[in-house]
Amino acid sequence: MTEQTRDITIESLMSEDRSFPPSEAFRAQANVSSESIYEEAERDLEGYWAKQAEKLDWFRPYDTVLEWNAPYAKWFIGGKLNISYNCLDRHVRNGGGEKIAYYWEAEDGERREISFAQLLEDVCRCANALKELGVRKGDRVAIYLPMILELPVAMLACARLGAPHNVVFGGFSAESLAGRINDSEAKILITADGGIRKGNVVPLKANADDALQSTPSIEHVLLVRRTGEDVPVADGRDIWWHDLVPQQQTECEPEQLDSEDMLYLLYTSGTTAKPKGIVHTTAGYLLGVMTTHEMVFDIKSDDVYWCAADIGWVTGHSYIVYGPLANHTTGVIYEGVPDFPARDRWWEIIERYKVTVLYTAPTAIRAHMKWGTEHAEKHDLSTLRLLGSVGEPINPEAWLWYHKYIGGERCPVVDTWWQTETGAILIAPLPGITSLKPGSATRPLPGVEADVVDEQGNSVPAGGGGYLVLKKPWPSMLRGLYKELERYEETYWSRFPGMYFPGDGAKRGEDGYYWLLGRVDDVMNVSGHRISTMEVESALVSDQRVAEAAVIGQKNDLTGEAIFAFVILRGETEPAPDLGEELRQYVGRKIGAIARPKQIMFTPELPKTRSGKIMRRLLRDIANDRALGDTTTLADSSVVETIRTASAASKSDE
Ligand code: PRX
Repeated sequence: MTEQTRDITIESLMSEDRSFPPSEAFRAQANVSSESIYEEAERDLEGYWAKQAEKLDWFRPYDTVLEWNAPYAKWFIGGKLNISYNCLDRHVRNGGGEKIAYYWEAEDGERREISFAQLLEDVCRCANALKELGVRKGDRVAIYLPMILELPVAMLACARLGAPHNVVFGGFSAESLAGRINDSEAKILITADGGIRKGNVVPLKANADDALQSTPSIEHVLLVRRTGEDVPVADGRDIWWHDLVPQQQTECEPEQLDSEDMLYLLYTSGTTAKPKGIVHTTAGYLLGVMTTHEMVFDIKSDDVYWCAADIGWVTGHSYIVYGPLANHTTGVIYEGVPDFPARDRWWEIIERYKVTVLYTAPTAIRAHMKWGTEHAEKHDLSTLRLLGSVGEPINPEAWLWYHKYIGGERCPVVDTWWQTETGAILIAPLPGITSLKPGSATRPLPGVEADVVDEQGNSVPAGGGGYLVLKKPWPSMLRGLYKELERYEETYWSRFPGMYFPGDGAKRGEDGYYWLLGRVDDVMNVSGHRISTMEVESALVSDQRVAEAAVIGQKNDLTGEAIFAFVILRGETEPAPDLGEELRQYVGRKIGAIARPKQIMFTPELPKTRSGKIMRRLLRDIANDRALGDTTTLADSSVVETIRTASAASKSDE
């Protein structure tokens, strides 16, 4: 607990009154069009999930829906199923094999499309190849691949065999890869010669070779040719994909797996400590991603759905691979960055494939805002019917921009709150019935019981801010941290006994709507007021001249912490001391004097992870003149030096 007990919750400063009810036309066609689903789930949680579970294909029916020995849950006990069967075979058997599973597009313009039937064959071939390399049920397989079709193929092949995959994002270093391989004791590594990013080659095999110096568990490396460069191939250990996979049989019996068998491990970086190996299992996870994908994105059989995340993150696992395939949805996979070769690349993709649903992150939306609306205006985006956001709080300005310039004011924008740990979306609108409010993830989904509590774990009255908690288990929840049960209990279940604590702050309005306030580690304490960085950032970016802002607490003898804001301006605006002062006063007027930044620093960039999250921890180090903490997950390390130099210069000016 903090030394401040006077103000026990997080202050709630922002207010947002704009509301966007669903149009009659949208409501009439929506997958969920009646509020009764919330009551139904509340009345009988297990009955609700049992009914949803009828959507899965089981080899053997389960005996019990839920066994809950807090904080350990088991769902659908006794059931047998296979996820790759649910994602592929059943659609092919039902006559849906010809449908496109993925349109794939490389950064250099190369294109491929693959049907469900072809994907099934590829998955079977890959599974047979893995068997030949000695992979058996329960063995862990590390995957370090770029955004190419072999990535979902490899994941589904693992799922077919019951061999948990451990996907390591292709932007991670050799050291991060080695750490994750060793922690999971993976037997096989699937990687490629290289990846392509902004026209350059990312040396995946070279990184992998570095990692493999210290990964004794790896017996074989299955190597995909992507860039065609010369890479060393270790005799006996490394095998080219094209030498082993294509000649395999196109049939491979799916393993009959237990509902609670491990599907995958995915490591999330803790802010300081060693990465946590999040464990997801079979039935509950699949049910979670499939139902949320169908309800929140209102998925129909003719949708062309594009989640622009990387498959290396949980968003890609759940909403590029497992959820959409289980729903027999056509998806788009794009390998490259949004501004290569030009800033209209995304909009060109949407026009080309007639994308109907787009799911991305606020950081990407803000980048597009910064680049201007002219890029989207060049393309026909009229096929879009729904937009989604994930990864961090979406500030109302970005929400409104997305809604207007990308969605043509006709597409609902669903802000979806969840985490690697939750497996699937937990707080989000149901677009046929929920009135949207820019900046709010709206309400917990049916079957999800959330609350906002104070330091003592008591519910905070409506309108107040506090800690987000979850009070009941849900099917796609993590089943623990790999080999670290104590850490699992300590990290998520100890702060508020009996409740899951995701580490986020939130406030809940009179209407029951949730407004996510960011990580509580980022909350600032100014004269005893606990202020969320997100609210100050949101106030700053609501000024037209500000493209992006990151706010942190700087040590201050008088007030404990003082608010320090790093601000990126939009293209045409020049930094000036007057503008800094103007913005300070603006925040003061907009959300209150207590939240007025003490100092504003203009910067061309911000340190971000490769998934686009601002690393405020590093900004705190810079502002407080400390040595930088762990920078391994930083996307571009030169950014920190640029800011540090600017910061030193601004101090010498004072
Ligand atoms: O702080 C929340 C933020 O991202 C965290 C989870 O990050 P990760 O495990 O990497 O998963 C990202 C994709 C689900 C959360 O604890 N976050 C995610 N979505 C939102 C969000 N914060 C506010 N609003 C969201 N919609």
